[in-house]
Formats: sequence, C-alpha cells, structure tokens
Amino acid sequence: MSKLWGGRFTKETDKLVEEFTASITFDKELASEDIEGSIAHVQMLGDCGIIAIEDANTIKEGLLTIQQKINNGNVEFLVEHEDIHMNIEKLLIDEIGPVGGKLHTGRSRNDQVATDMHLYLRKQTKSIIGLLNDVQKAIMNQAKDHIDTILPGYTHLQRAQPISFAHHLLAYFWMLERDKERLQDSLKRINWSPLGAGALAGTTFPIDRQQTAELLGFDMVYPNSMDAVSDRDFIVEFLSHASLIMTHISRLSEELVIWSSQEFQFIELDDAFCTGSSIMPQKKNPDVPELLRAKTGRVYGNLVGLLTVLKGLPLAYNKDMQEDKEGMFDTVATLDGSLRLLAPMILTMTVNKDKMHQAVSQDFSNATDIADYLVTKGLPFRQAHEIIGKIVLYAINNQKFLLGLTIEEYQQFSPLFKEDIYEILQPKNVVGARNSQGGTGFQQVKNQLSFAEQFID
Ligand code: ARG
Repeated sequence: MSKLWGGRFTKETDKLVEEFTASITFDKELASEDIEGSIAHVQMLGDCGIIAIEDANTIKEGLLTIQQKINNGNVEFLVEHEDIHMNIEKLLIDEIGPVGGKLHTGRSRNDQVATDMHLYLRKQTKSIIGLLNDVQKAIMNQAKDHIDTILPGYTHLQRAQPISFAHHLLAYFWMLERDKERLQDSLKRINWSPLGAGALAGTTFPIDRQQTAELLGFDMVYPNSMDAVSDRDFIVEFLSHASLIMTHISRLSEELVIWSSQEFQFIELDDAFCTGSSIMPQKKNPDVPELLRAKTGRVYGNLVGLLTVLKGLPLAYNKDMQEDKEGMFDTVATLDGSLRLLAPMILTMTVNKDKMHQAVSQDFSNATDIADYLVTKGLPFRQAHEIIGKIVLYAINNQKFLLGLTIEEYQQFSPLFKEDIYEILQPKNVVGARNSQGGTGFQQVKNQLSFAEQFID
C-alpha cells in the first residue's frame, strides 16, 4: 500500500474515491502554514525529549528544503497523497529518509489542519485590515477636497436635504472603521492554538503545547482538545465579517453606479476603471462597481455554506470539515481583489461639483430650513411643517423653486416671513447651518475629518 495510512487496508482506494476525497487541489494554498506548524511541532518534540534532537534538526532542515523547493516551483503535489499534510510528509520522507516519519509523533492531521487554518486566517485578516485602511485613506483624500461640495442628500432615494459630499463619503469611512475593528477583535480568537490536541483527545506523549503556541505566535492554547479540533467558529466569524464588508462595498458601488449615470452625472469614474460596449460606441460602463456589487453574493454564499456544513456535526473532527476551505479561500481572494480596486477607483474618480450644485438649486431640499425658520420665529414645528407643505405645493403648481418665490408670496402663508429668508435658503447656508454634532455643517465635517485621521495607520 502506497498510502501513509495503508497498513490497515487490503485494497487500493478506488480512483474516483481518491479524487472525491482529496483536498490537495485546493489546500496546497496552506503549504507554508503547514510547514511552519510542523517546524514548531518538531522543535518541541526535540526539546521535550520525545524524539532525538538530531532527528528534530534533520526534520527541520528537510522541511526548510521543501519550502525552498515549493518557492522555486519544483514540487509536484499528488492527489494520491490526498491533502497538503500528507503530501508534505511524503516529500519529507523522500527528502531525508525514514526519520521523516517521526514528524507526526504526538499529533494528528486534525490538530494540524486546524493549526494551518488559524495561521492562514491570522495572516489574511491582518492583510485585509491593511487594505481596508487603504480604502479609508482614499475616502479621506476625496473628502478633504469636497468639504464644501454640496449635493442633495437622499432618503427613499428622494431628495431630502442638501449635504456636503465629504460628509456623504465619510459615512463609508466609519462603516469600514467598524469592519476593521471587528477583524481586529477576531484576531483574539483566531490566535488560539489547537496544536497538540491530537486527533481529539490529546496524546500520551509529554508534549508542551505552550511551547508550540509561543513558537507560532499564538496567545493561548485551546483548553479543550475536542473543541480545538472541531472549532471552525473563527472561520465563520471571518466569513461573516467579510459579508458585512461586502455589504458596505456593495452599497458604495451602487451609489457610484447611480452617480455616474447620465441622469445624475455627479461623478465620472476614471477610464481605467470602466469598459465600453461592443455595440454601442457611446457607452462607458461602470463594470468595476457593478462587479463589486455582484461579488457580494458569493461571499454571502460562502458564509451560509460553512454554517450549513457545521450544523448538526457531532464532535469531534468529521471529514465534512474539509469543506471549510474553498469558500474561505474564495472569500479571501474576493475581498482582497475588491479592496485593491476600490481604493484607486475612489482616488481617481472626478467629482462634478457643478452638476451636484445644479441639483440642489433645483429642488425642494431646503424646505426643512423654512420650517426651522418659522420655528425660530416662535411657531410650533408641527404648524410650521403644515405651512411649508402648502408653500411647496404652491411652488410646484406655479413651477417655481423656494428661492424663486417673492416675499409677498411667502407672506400670504405667514406674516412671519421677512427678507432674510432668502439668505437662509441658499444651499451653502442650508448645509452650513446643520452644525449639530455629527451633522453635515462644514465645521462639523472638518471636525469629523480630523477625528477620522486618528483611525488611519
Ligand atoms: N484534509 C483534511 C481536512 O482538510 C485534513 C484532516 C484530515 N483528517 C482526517 N482525520 N481525515 O479536513
């Protein structure tokens, strides 16, 4: 039998079964983590006197050589060796001889694969935190240039009140800040070491789990060996944080698509981030934000996929858990690619200040401000609201905007109106007046920007 576990078997594995059960086609992504975990393990085996120090050193050297060969593309992984763990063990034995067979003393593939996954996700989580930070920087950059760029703010996608474009953009800054914080917090749980849990029950060898945890930079060891080998919560957590990140990216993308439409023309995406149509020569399509919006689907799918794999699994390890990998790799690749595109796309988009300004001068988004005006003159807000409703209706019927009504027209609705109403209704003043904490008033936006600065690395 050519298998590492072939001893108990009298027949070769069916070829289809071999292919169906193998994970090497995708878990080869974990090669470096697998080697890193093995080096820590073998170091500990030597230090604890479980195997001879010379053997431990030989194995360590062998593992480093294999890593070199992998880096140089000189290694072929084989489906017949099922997964990355057994492929590397096989390569090791080929490299240094039977002494390589001592590496697997006191561990199982169950704690080994869990260790690999923890190491992998720790690395990727940190990298994604960095990429989120880059997108935040791009947002800040645009926001700095557009504090006094005014556009309509919407509710129900109906023009509501004018706002500063910087304020609108910065809303996304804070979403991404919470995303970063969630990922940062998840590192606490990713950073538990399953190594040494064995197949499920621990081992008879006098291993030192603390040492391997320290060598691998983990904060603590799983206190329960069964939990250690069957926990995939940290992956679910990652996929869930990734889903929320994609929700945020997708909402922003949707706005970019809308804003760059002919109907809005608020922004123009750089040519480098758009594509043309094969039939309609006039078109410049926002394919990148469209795809970012769409890729959210696969990330949600990967989360639901893993939750479904895990529900109903008895303790401890089950082969089902091998299905934790592809969705995770796909999510990492999707997030990585999306965030890398998003930052430069935001940085390079041009903002059409005039179009935005034109939009706020031709709508009723200053209506609340007339109501507030009457309130400052002593009228209860509810009554003011009623009056303004009538004024808006009157203006619509007479095809005018609020700045276009004469003072006589205003005074038909209330004697409280004076000439100063026209100054108050200027979009710039409408925005500037919203100076309550966290509001869109220019001073508030400046305060927000300098506060945001503290969250950027
Ligand atoms: N390829 C396996 C996985 O990814 C490794 C662990 C296999 N353990 C086992 N007892 N068959 O889950």
